[in-house]
Amino acid sequence: MEEIKKIGIVGCGSIAEIAHLPSIAKCEQVKLEALCDVDSDRAESLAKKWDAAKWYHDYRDMFSETDLDAVIIATPNNFHRNQVVAAAKAGVDVLVEKPMAGTNREAWEMVEACKKAKVKLMVGCDRRYWIHNQWAKELIEAGVIGELLMSRSCLHEHWYLYQNHVAKTGFRLDAAMTGGAALNDTGAHAIDLLVWLNGSRVKRVVGVAKRLAMPESYTKNDDTALMMLELENGAFGTVSCNRFSPAVNQNTELCGTEGTIFTCTDATNPFQTWPMAVYTNKEYSLHTLPQVLKNYRWPELFWVEDIQNESVRKRWVPICPPRHPNNYERMLDHFLDCITNNKQPLTSGEDGARAVEVMCAVLKSQESGRWVDLPLEEEIVPKYYKPLPLEE
Ligand SMILES: NC(=O)c1ccc[n+]([C@@H]2O[C@H](COP(=O)([O-])OP(=O)(O)OC[C@H]3O[C@@H](n4cnc5c(N)ncnc54)[C@H](O)[C@@H]3O)[C@@H](O)[C@H]2O)c1
Repeated sequence: MEEIKKIGIVGCGSIAEIAHLPSIAKCEQVKLEALCDVDSDRAESLAKKWDAAKWYHDYRDMFSETDLDAVIIATPNNFHRNQVVAAAKAGVDVLVEKPMAGTNREAWEMVEACKKAKVKLMVGCDRRYWIHNQWAKELIEAGVIGELLMSRSCLHEHWYLYQNHVAKTGFRLDAAMTGGAALNDTGAHAIDLLVWLNGSRVKRVVGVAKRLAMPESYTKNDDTALMMLELENGAFGTVSCNRFSPAVNQNTELCGTEGTIFTCTDATNPFQTWPMAVYTNKEYSLHTLPQVLKNYRWPELFWVEDIQNESVRKRWVPICPPRHPNNYERMLDHFLDCITNNKQPLTSGEDGARAVEVMCAVLKSQESGRWVDLPLEEEIVPKYYKPLPLEE
């Protein structure tokens, strides 16, 4: 029988409450051992609600006084680096929320600290754990849409939706703590998804990130980010994110030489349809058709055609993957699998750091109006971001 891992959380805010704590409660391989929040009342009340034996005000006390196997860091972005480094020094495997860090230097310091301490570092880019995105990845790798040459990833969501109703603090509006918003809050997801689906690193970036919609009195952060990426394999992608659209829209378009895949926001999507659609121009028989496409050929009339004809009819296939277990439950299961079986996380620290590099490159590109090559040679600190000193 697998050993039950002891887990803690630093930062008991909205994402801990809506995603991580329910996932931990459902998972039999893990036991919630400790919670930490600078708001001690919050740490205590959530510890009592979710059955954690201990709660802390300071993460350093949590690491020194408990014997954790793993920790989830879910604090405002500017704390991630020091808290991840402290976890690494304590020998604790880490899942850190996105965006991993405020600057490329912070991000790579986290990678190095975890490597040195031989602990796992995983980044909470949960979009990769949506089943429809995983199926899209499998279909691309199976060659169903040919060579993926052009893709688009967007995430639009008005500030107010999360900030006024879900978030526990106002840190997202404070550019000194975040360094950005459309670019690195929503952008963290859209960049990660696009790069992963393409299966190639980013070679160079051109883009902009500006505050167009909100007054400076609300936030100094950008609310509109748009970028073009050239990948090392020669493909191109665009990423667009904004924080002024009242209609939430996460949507990915993947154009290959032999077909196209769309994936959308899961719960509601712009077309009010299933969250995934695939068109392939390849010649498949009913026997060679990938299982995902076979399962979703509907209505059954088409099956008759497909059985009769040598090759199946070419058309858009809408797909509705199961919702459960949800993306956060799947992400936690994967984190535990990596720890138990010494596997490399799907959303690794290196992936998180490369996404931060893209964000930083957009800021540099905006200054110069030119393409910026990756990897970056220098640290790019967003204009209003105030990195915390590295703690010894
Ligand atoms: N994956 C996603 O889609 C997703 C969604 C929401 C948030 N996030 C990420 O999770 C992180 C937290 O966001 P949130 O929405 O939960 O924030 P939040 O404002 O709801 O809560 C932040 C919590 O952290 C606590 N905190 C602040 N500084 C701390 C410190 N030094 N040590 C311990 N606790 C501290 C606060 O008291 C608060 O309880 C951010 O990095 C954010 O980008 C990711």
